[in-house]
Amino acid sequence: MIRFEHVALGYADRPVVQDVDLEVPDGKTMVILGDSGSGKSTLLKGVLGILKPQAGQIEVNGSNVGDLEENELLAYRQRIGMVFQEGALFDSLTVGENIGFWLWEHTDWNDEKIEERIRTLLRFVGLESVIDKRPDELSGGMKRRVAIARSMAPQDPLVMLYDEPTTGLDPFTSRSICDLIRQVQSEFQVMSLVVTHDLHDAFRVGDLFSFIHDSRVILTGNREKIERSDDPFIRTFLST
Ligand SMILES: Nc1ncnc2c1ncn2[C@@H]1O[C@H](COP(=O)(O)OP(=O)(O)OP(=O)(O)O)[C@@H](O)[C@H]1O
Ligand SMILES: [Mg+2]
Repeated sequence: MIRFEHVALGYADRPVVQDVDLEVPDGKTMVILGDSGSGKSTLLKGVLGILKPQAGQIEVNGSNVGDLEENELLAYRQRIGMVFQEGALFDSLTVGENIGFWLWEHTDWNDEKIEERIRTLLRFVGLESVIDKRPDELSGGMKRRVAIARSMAPQDPLVMLYDEPTTGLDPFTSRSICDLIRQVQSEFQVMSLVVTHDLHDAFRVGDLFSFIHDSRVILTGNREKIERSDDPFIRTFLST
């Protein structure tokens, strides 16, 4: 389980989010919704351990992320797949090299073992044929698939974090990325956090939904609870 308890996160002394309580049960996907600048990406940085809480704690499978020593943090991050907005692939490397990069840098695996891992991941995301292509030869949807494969390179993930995985994609491609996110969830039984602006995508991937507004989580629940809410911010969000 991922558990936020009274968490404040921010930069320097300025809190961006405060008093955040969230729970993502094992194997479930929580979607984070909120306006631009409300602190959605900041929450993901908290789970990754890039940003330490200014107050409260973030627990993942019973360990307090803020308490991990540097070497424990490195091991912990290997089990987290982080998919950045726009995919953030290295343009000068091939798809295979993008996925293998971390393994060449941080493991003593030989080339055969790395290539096998790359092929397994590409097969999983349905893209084995593009292993030697460069990112600029791929469609937007393919880039996202490669980014998802790359995020899982070190180990099968325990947690997946997706920051706006469908932004800029057409609806059909967005849907296929949402389906891939569900496929990762069921294959690895991961806990996932997905940041998105798109309500269709949110309902397609999420089990639970959490809205941030004015530095706080104003509502968390399943789809039914969200749709029944009479909070004005949520009503506006649902109607646009
Ligand atoms: N590295 C940083 N240093 C200082 N302030 C930052 C930093 N990163 C983000 N912020 C500020 O924190 C606030 C929340 O940013 P965050 O990126 O978490 O928002 P977001 O909800 O992900 O927005 P968007 O939907 O536009 O991606 C913003 O006011 C932003 O300017
Ligand atoms: Mg963001």
